[in-house]
Amino acid sequence: MTLTSSDTNPGSPIGVFDSGVGGLSVLRHIRTQLPQEDLIYFADSGYAPYGDKTEQQVIDRSLAIAAYLLAQGAKAIVVACNTATVAAIKALRTRYPELPLVGVEPGLKPAAALTRNGKIGVLATSRTLSGEKFLLLREQISAASQAQFLLQPCVGLVDLIEQCALGQDSNDATSAMLERYIAPLLAQGVDTLVLGCTHYPFVQDAIERTVRAHTASPITLVDTGEAVARQLARLLDAAGLRRDGNPAPQLRGYTTAGVDMLAQAFAGLLDLHPPVEHLSV
Ligand code: DGL
Repeated sequence: MTLTSSDTNPGSPIGVFDSGVGGLSVLRHIRTQLPQEDLIYFADSGYAPYGDKTEQQVIDRSLAIAAYLLAQGAKAIVVACNTATVAAIKALRTRYPELPLVGVEPGLKPAAALTRNGKIGVLATSRTLSGEKFLLLREQISAASQAQFLLQPCVGLVDLIEQCALGQDSNDATSAMLERYIAPLLAQGVDTLVLGCTHYPFVQDAIERTVRAHTASPITLVDTGEAVARQLARLLDAAGLRRDGNPAPQLRGYTTAGVDMLAQAFAGLLDLHPPVEHLSV
């Protein structure tokens, strides 16, 4: 199926997806910057985490979800997941060449502009950090900036954040895990940490606590959610698809796991209470 711009109009919704609840950290910026848009959020929690799946599995999930969102009339899609972007954005662009499509990449470029000592830690899933697209980005930014990127795969962290969104108390386990992943980066002198997974902004306070336990020096955290929302606004404007004059913007959620989990994540993380449905896509 090839979508052409004549299939959608400014009144159509925007589809946003992630392996789970992490993409809500991007959705909140989209709501702020594009408050008139109707939004559909798709949490693939039944298949999370993507970080330990093969590249082909992540591509297959991404194509299936995009097809579903387009069948719902989406005029644009945001891949609110670094892992899915690294693995599948090329396949999505090939399948839907005319679709406004925005991915999320670890913010190496803003980090290189912000660092004072040139040492940057990158926290992400192992699939993101081993992806060809990411390695190319690192090469380009290192060559242009001389910054040194220390990569830290955070195996297991997405699972803990998904549990936390479910209301399960995983705070101690999360703190212990953050200590294990972040302390060695701080010991190597990083002054900037890239949050290279859309789940991680939801544990930003815990990350800051871990940092403060090790150093009094300021450490900059980089998250790209706001930049992604800005890029989406640009693409909508360029395609003449930005909506305005919508007095009652709609938000709805779909999940491949239990509806309670996504409903609790909306409520707990964003204080929102949209209708949520289970799907087997
Ligand atoms: N939020 C996803 C990301 O940005 C998590 C990936 C996963 O499920 O492992 O990479």
